[in-house]
Amino acid sequence: MIPHSTELADVLPFLNRPALVLDSGSGGLTVWQEICHLTPLLDTFYLADFAAYPYGLKTEGALVERVSEILATLVPQLQPGVIVVACNTASTIVLEEIRRLYSVPVVGVVPAIKTAAIASQNRRIGLLATPGTVARDYLNNLITLHASDCQVVRVGSNVLVALAEDVLCERHVSAEAIAREIEPVLVAECDQVVLGCTHFPLLKPYLTQLAPQVAWVDSGKAIARRVADLLGNRADPISVGSEPVHIAATTLANLDNQWREGVAKLGFHQAMTLPIGKR
Ligand code: DGL
Repeated sequence: MIPHSTELADVLPFLNRPALVLDSGSGGLTVWQEICHLTPLLDTFYLADFAAYPYGLKTEGALVERVSEILATLVPQLQPGVIVVACNTASTIVLEEIRRLYSVPVVGVVPAIKTAAIASQNRRIGLLATPGTVARDYLNNLITLHASDCQVVRVGSNVLVALAEDVLCERHVSAEAIAREIEPVLVAECDQVVLGCTHFPLLKPYLTQLAPQVAWVDSGKAIARRVADLLGNRADPISVGSEPVHIAATTLANLDNQWREGVAKLGFHQAMTLPIGKR
């Protein structure tokens, strides 16, 4: 039995080279699900950095500092087999720095502009992401490289991030509010819309209902494939027990009960609080 604890040390004996999956909140769980689906025997540790949520409104400097602080605390203890930055907002700026600091393989998530550009019939693609991601140089480069012949309609929305959190916690979600946010990509008649924030696949049932003609493109499966490739044989039974162990943690001192229930339903064995830094 894994003890209910707020001490990382108490759960460490149950984790064997886990995948460390990180996001500001629940968005990275959409990537985590794909990883577990493809690599079902892998132990995982999911960190939701609610103390610093939302990442999409942070300056680049503050975000690099925060992600570095979290990894400096977690990596030496968890000894992960792979680090997955399951957040577009962070990945578009921190990956280089993390790869410089750690010898562990690092996988990031970036908006699937290339996939959408390849599939678009009318050469009009949309991008829903955080205000941070839509403003990044990284994104301009992606568009120049892969979608230079497309009209790209960018929507930076923090409202959609908050609505996605409501989905996980089974709170009321207003379809009208979602419709208002996605209006620019619908008005432009984009046939492919990139979900450039890992929170947004949580809204997919609403999105497909509001605009069934649109292909909503996310990177979850591609990230899971990358993780499986990197782990190779390590994706075979590596858990200490015969079943994989999944631990979720949030950096907020007070664990929200709805969140605890939400992650339990996804298959986590435990949700713990792990305050990191002076917040
Ligand atoms: N889930 C995140 C992303 O993929 C960020 C959400 C936020 O905290 O703003 O960009």
